Amino acid sequence: MTGGSAGKVTVATLGALKARGEKAVFVTAYDYATATFAERAGVDMVLIGDSAAMTMMGLPNTLGIGMDEMCVFVRSVCRALSRAFVVGDLPFLSYQPSDERAVLNAGRFIALGCDAVKCEGGARVARRVRAMVNAGISVMGHLGLTPQSLGPLGGYRVQGKSRFAAEQLAEDALALEDAGAFAILLEAMPAETAAYVRERVDLLVYGIGAGPHVDGQLVISHDILGTFVGDVAPRFVRPYAQLGAGIEQAFRAYAEDVRAGRFPGPEQCYRLDPADEAEIREARERLSRTRS
Ligand code: KIV
Repeated sequence: MTGGSAGKVTVATLGALKARGEKAVFVTAYDYATATFAERAGVDMVLIGDSAAMTMMGLPNTLGIGMDEMCVFVRSVCRALSRAFVVGDLPFLSYQPSDERAVLNAGRFIALGCDAVKCEGGARVARRVRAMVNAGISVMGHLGLTPQSLGPLGGYRVQGKSRFAAEQLAEDALALEDAGAFAILLEAMPAETAAYVRERVDLLVYGIGAGPHVDGQLVISHDILGTFVGDVAPRFVRPYAQLGAGIEQAFRAYAEDVRAGRFPGPEQCYRLDPADEAEIREARERLSRTRS
């Protein structure tokens, strides 16, 4: 580990970070390897986002992923993490239809090892949030650009761009706080709006594309690693690596070696004792004589 605090990160740890004015480092992960690297790098929080629909499954938006697919990603990530705080993202229609569905699906994520779940929306999902909290489940809300409501929002648009819109976001944040959420995530809004929402609540407030005045920053790992295949490119993304280009180059080099007979070389081959090798060679020669 190269950063962050030692020991398992809990809601109390996150509260202590906020109290000290330290930012939480929050990334998405969907698979065992990426989660392992994130944990080794000392990130504080990992979200198994329903963005897996786009990053891992190549779907055009997040609406087409369900609980069974999410559970595969959740299981893989949870196996890699012992320190980071893990949040499982409830997919479209896994919590909207009823309190019972919300509790049962959130419970599946918790049973697989998540510390908390996330769901999208404010006052309109407050009942569901309360039901999950009453079942002993920690819930993070998600306000602003909520990709499960792309239709009503009119696409990937920056939210909270007026005093009225900022006030509505604050009201939604208060409704989530009242319902027992421990945190909210603010997505795609001006920094001033996010700062206003944060000042209106006592919750932990994290941001993705919401400026610096929040308690921690979330990024989609594919965006910062350069492995996202698609044409959604929000302005808040800063690339830290170009692994996609590196992966493509490695496949090209391998393909050239296979086609030119350079792979495998002697160092990639298993050896035999010379006596056994001679016997097998002789058997091959006999075989080829009987065939000719
Ligand atoms: O699914 C996800 O990764 C998310 C982020 C876009 C906030 O919900």
